[in-house]
Amino acid sequence: MNLHQRSFLKLLDFSPAEISALLDLAAKLKADKKNSSEKQYLVGKQIALIFEKTSTRTRCAFEVAARDQGAHVTYLEPSGSQIGHKESVRDTARVLGRMYDAIEYRGFSQNVVEELAEFSGVPVYNGLTDEFHPTQMLADLLTMREHCDKPLNKISFAYLGDARFNMGNSLLIAGALMGMDVRIAAPESLQPSAELLEKVQQIAQQTGARILITDNPQAAVSGVDFVHTDIWVSMGEPEQAWRERIDLLKPFQVNADLMAATGNVHAKFMHCLPSFHNRDTKIGEWIFQTFGLDGVEVTEDVFESAASIVFDQAENRMHTIKAVMVATLGNVEI
Ligand code: CP
Ligand code: NVA
Repeated sequence: MNLHQRSFLKLLDFSPAEISALLDLAAKLKADKKNSSEKQYLVGKQIALIFEKTSTRTRCAFEVAARDQGAHVTYLEPSGSQIGHKESVRDTARVLGRMYDAIEYRGFSQNVVEELAEFSGVPVYNGLTDEFHPTQMLADLLTMREHCDKPLNKISFAYLGDARFNMGNSLLIAGALMGMDVRIAAPESLQPSAELLEKVQQIAQQTGARILITDNPQAAVSGVDFVHTDIWVSMGEPEQAWRERIDLLKPFQVNADLMAATGNVHAKFMHCLPSFHNRDTKIGEWIFQTFGLDGVEVTEDVFESAASIVFDQAENRMHTIKAVMVATLGNVEI
């Protein structure tokens, strides 16, 4: 299989076989790095990293992966480029396409990353938009594969929380494409759009995925192998959203009772991070002072428990992003 010069904009653009091949490549690159036998496929490549929202994992994953592979990066910080303010996306794409071999973009609308890909003439990678977080999905799938003896299509997972934004949408799509048992639990107003549901049901008919959308968190987690969640108010959303979200999502908090409701002592906890599991951040402290919540979407005891595999998941961001860059820029068969 050859993914040379392909963009990575959303998982829906890739077949299950292509996603599996990227996961296999990531696993190989991870093993090679750990054995100090990594081969460089991207020597001398130039990669632009545009961030219109902040990041720790995604930025560092792109930078380290690029350097490991012999490539160079330019980081354009949230307010550090003309994009959207003084220069159109289309013009920016045509400028960067003349200088760089690939472009990563994190921002708001999916339309922007799609437009960058259309006009730059080089592979473009989606580092998160409001709609999708596809590089996170490769990390999440690889992590689930590593922590379960079963193949992906025998694995079940639940996602609890805001299910109409990037993480909820993406996990639903990832699970559908890989033929998994996917349960999405959210209050009705935070469930995925009817359009996306129709799309994933079509995919499920091909892949054998089982999809449950429910407002009952206990029913969703019954028997699952993995429980995922995400922060309740995402980047770019107004601070005022917290009050409404806390009211709506309190029953969906991942706590010890919820983990027990899986009925599976081996069930693992996953979170893309960052997360508000205690008061150790400015926002965590503000939420405590304002709403009296110490631990928001997940409690400290679950986050710090042996069931929590969030840092394996974070590490896998780097190996999987490296796989995407090697497959699309390295001119290799995968
Ligand atoms: N999970 C994730 O995308 O983290 P960052 O926002 O730190 O990149
Ligand atoms: N839904 C979160 C994901 C962060 C990785 C956000 O968009 O802020």
